Amino acid sequence: MAQARKLRVGVLLSGGGTNLQALLDACADASFPAEIALVVSNNEDAFGLTRARRAGVETAVLDHRPYAKREEFEADLDRLLRGHDVEVICLAGFLRVLTEGFVEAWRDRMLNIHPSLLPAYKGLHTHARALADGVATHGCTVHFVRPALDDGPLVVQAEVPVEPGDDVDSLAARVLTREHAIYPLALKLLGDGRLKVVDDHVRIDGAPGPLRLGWESVDAADPHGRAS
Ligand code: GAR
Repeated sequence: MAQARKLRVGVLLSGGGTNLQALLDACADASFPAEIALVVSNNEDAFGLTRARRAGVETAVLDHRPYAKREEFEADLDRLLRGHDVEVICLAGFLRVLTEGFVEAWRDRMLNIHPSLLPAYKGLHTHARALADGVATHGCTVHFVRPALDDGPLVVQAEVPVEPGDDVDSLAARVLTREHAIYPLALKLLGDGRLKVVDDHVRIDGAPGPLRLGWESVDAADPHGRAS
């Protein structure tokens, strides 16, 4: 049977890239509806670049520091992505604030993963803040990006229990296991054409989103996002 055309994804990162790795692993499955066309980092030392090269994926380094203006950096970033026929961007630990112009140019075509159950704990230090508040349930979210920080239509969320004795590192590690499950899952939903944004809320197969997965969910444990 002829291979269906895959969604071309550009991943932006600044660091270790464990979420990139989860996406690469998912894309290695012939039936996955997306492929990573390009990985871009603003940091030439990002280990995520090594992960991409190992997987045979093209990489680019675009250092933001020589640019006087954010818009100029983003214009080159945009050119790079479009030059590789990228259709969808996945932010995966990209430590640059993006301007409204760039975000709107990729409206409903740019996903981000954030280590909290949005809208709770936008911004930094999410695990420390959740621990300080004594919440019983924390988690992570994949969402479409909007200009405001960590804002936008929620696609998939995974709940993660806070255990007695947790510290930031133990909680972050537990959340990360779920990040690696839900990012491929969200990308699969997008690639399969099952996501639609209506009135700035996600609908999945026509039903109101987000998809919210409990800790015990078997689907969430599937690193290849094969859940239907
Ligand atoms: C992830 O935990 C991701 O949720 C977080 O950066 C980390 C990147 O890790 N992103 C944000 O906080 C965005 N607001 P990785 O490089 O191992 O994928």
